[in-house]
Amino acid sequence: MAALAVRRADFLMTLAYATDLATGHTRDFALRSCVLAMRLAETAGLDEQMRRSVYHQALLRHVGCNADTHLLAAAFGNEIALHQDYALIDRGNIAEIRAMFARALTRTFPTMSPAEVDNAVAEARTVTVPVLAGCCEVAQMIAGRIGLSLEACENLGQPYERWDGLGLPLGLKGDAVRLPVRIVALAQDAVVLTEHHGFEEMIAIITKRSGSAYDPELANFFLAHAERLMVGIDGPVDRETILALEPLPHAVLGEDACEEAYLAIADMIDMRMPFTFGHSRAVAELAHAAGKHMGLPASDMRDVRWAGYTHDIGELAVPVATWMRAGALTQRETDEARLHPYHGERALASMGGEGKEVAALVLRHHEHLDGSGYHRYARGNDLSPAARVLAAAEAFQTAREARPHRAGLSDAAAAAKLRGAVKEGKLCAEAVEAVLTCAGQPARRATAERLAGLTPREIEVLRLIAAGHTAKEAARLLEIAPKTADNHIQNLYSKIGVTTRAGAALYALERGLVQQGIHAA
Ligand SMILES: [Fe+2]
Ligand SMILES: [Fe+2]
Repeated sequence: MAALAVRRADFLMTLAYATDLATGHTRDFALRSCVLAMRLAETAGLDEQMRRSVYHQALLRHVGCNADTHLLAAAFGNEIALHQDYALIDRGNIAEIRAMFARALTRTFPTMSPAEVDNAVAEARTVTVPVLAGCCEVAQMIAGRIGLSLEACENLGQPYERWDGLGLPLGLKGDAVRLPVRIVALAQDAVVLTEHHGFEEMIAIITKRSGSAYDPELANFFLAHAERLMVGIDGPVDRETILALEPLPHAVLGEDACEEAYLAIADMIDMRMPFTFGHSRAVAELAHAAGKHMGLPASDMRDVRWAGYTHDIGELAVPVATWMRAGALTQRETDEARLHPYHGERALASMGGEGKEVAALVLRHHEHLDGSGYHRYARGNDLSPAARVLAAAEAFQTAREARPHRAGLSDAAAAAKLRGAVKEGKLCAEAVEAVLTCAGQPARRATAERLAGLTPREIEVLRLIAAGHTAKEAARLLEIAPKTADNHIQNLYSKIGVTTRAGAALYALERGLVQQGIHAA
């Protein structure tokens, strides 16, 4: 195989697409705000290093948004709708914040009395502040894994900070909020406000928030040039435009760095819900092993592994609250869920070269040989051996994982289910047998030296909290005192260098510590 060379910006665009889905933004929102932020940086005459920081901040500002999403969904319901509201309000205005939470609560819990809504709104901060802290920590960890500079990572720790010190979670004020962070916050608000209220109203709102949400000097500069800066900003943005905006030198990833970038995407997807922890890694490893068993060419195995890491990226378009509900989905929810391979293909297809092959596999991961799969009802002649092995690996792994509406099957029962699907003409017999033969292979496991000197007990506690258990639940499951569990958590946080549960969960995912059978749901 020829040596691989992929622009890192391609991975940033895929992550930007994914975060647009997860936060309910419109198509290409992050790309459009990147164009605007870079125009602003260029017009202000910022140097190359500062423009690079703006570029990274614009594309990845919300990349940590999947941290602790299940907590948001449990408290406020549809977290995507909450994100949409959050993007529009003045996030330093208590009345607007309270109104946003009240809307979410009445939408989700229609039988709640006004007094109950008031109480829940008063408690909202205790849920959201730790979640936002987790989002910031996770964003920094993901950016580090795709090789961004320390400065870019640190900027991603400030996405929700404001000029007036009323931002979260740190309450940084004035220049302590870094310039690229201030530029991107203003640019993203300008794009979203224009979409919802039109240009004139956007100008009025930015003017009103100058000096509170935004650095007044920056806001004045933007307002003075707004008409020119905003030209065409509501239109689609193509890959070439974003590639051309990256300041020199352009970052290019070789095969190993691509592998790590795809893994970072897998973890970003899987950490959204406790019951999908480790799902994408497991599918990828199983599909890769089965592909090898079947004698697929090396390039196909690489594609199938990378498609395994990313196959469910399109699921981010569906609210966590929907996936977490124990009951049946409505027809509309089912239709939305069945479109996730489409969104997945779109997220990856814009990548040049290898990305197209990966996207083609992602698009087909729920298709069946007899045309009974989804969402394109493809048939056998449209399903390559690589597509068949990915579909078989995905079906086996999903069958043995628990979901809120059903228990996970034993390996034997999952194998019987897949062989039944072969008999019905849905799955490929050779691919299924290869997957089942390989299913006993151990997943990647962490070695002791990669685990920052954690004790066996601390590793047990880490696995449990990564799977969504609270400290109290971990104490009960391990039959230790809650205070002892707390001590273990504090010790392990400081050893692995994180400060939030979400950060610890991502650390556990990265090192293959999440196993089936310990999921919280
Ligand atoms: Fe999946
Ligand atoms: Fe899927």
